[in-house]
Amino acid sequence: MAKDYQIDAVFHLRKIKPTFRKIFELAIPFLQTRQNEIHTYIVYQYALLLLEDEPGMPEIVVPAAILHDVGWSCIPEEEQHAAFGPVVINKKLQRTHEVEGATIAQEIMNRVDYDHQLIQKITEIIDGHDTTNKARSINDAITKDADKLCRFSGAGFHIDYQRFNKEQLVHLKFLLEKIDEWFLTRTGREIAMYEGRMREKEILARVHQRKDI
Ligand SMILES: [Fe+2]
Ligand SMILES: [Fe+2]
Repeated sequence: MAKDYQIDAVFHLRKIKPTFRKIFELAIPFLQTRQNEIHTYIVYQYALLLLEDEPGMPEIVVPAAILHDVGWSCIPEEEQHAAFGPVVINKKLQRTHEVEGATIAQEIMNRVDYDHQLIQKITEIIDGHDTTNKARSINDAITKDADKLCRFSGAGFHIDYQRFNKEQLVHLKFLLEKIDEWFLTRTGREIAMYEGRMREKEILARVHQRKDI
């Protein structure tokens, strides 16, 4: 039977697994920009779903997912739009959010006395999560796939088509065409296709509803 990949779009700290709750709590102040709190909660959930079927290490992938975008807190909001999205104009700034993010993540994990070897592996994933396309390890592949799956989620899709000023079906078509290029794991591609079908159903249902009025 096909899996149901439903995820939750209302963040609360108590919904985070106790093992990773303190890390998430310490990340929250750094996520109050670019709608990164909900983005991170969604990426965290996809990371857990991917780990059910892909051979990654939760102690590396989950903190990497939680901390991967803390570096946006160092980029002024008016400059952020040039550093992400379908067309990245300012690649230097995109790189800055990775480098600054790795430093902040290291500080957070030091505060919770996380294992030093694990910290090293996690910061290596954060440093390059958007500017390297290939999988540098299975843990890197899962983190990257979880990050990109947010674009296909109900909440992520709605944030993005409005943010990029795109018509919903046009934006969905763009995402579906990117699946083979973006996703690095079989499960990542599978969830992306599943979520894509869900978004298509929702858009078409709204179109029919409007016709019925
Ligand atoms: Fe990022
Ligand atoms: Fe992200």
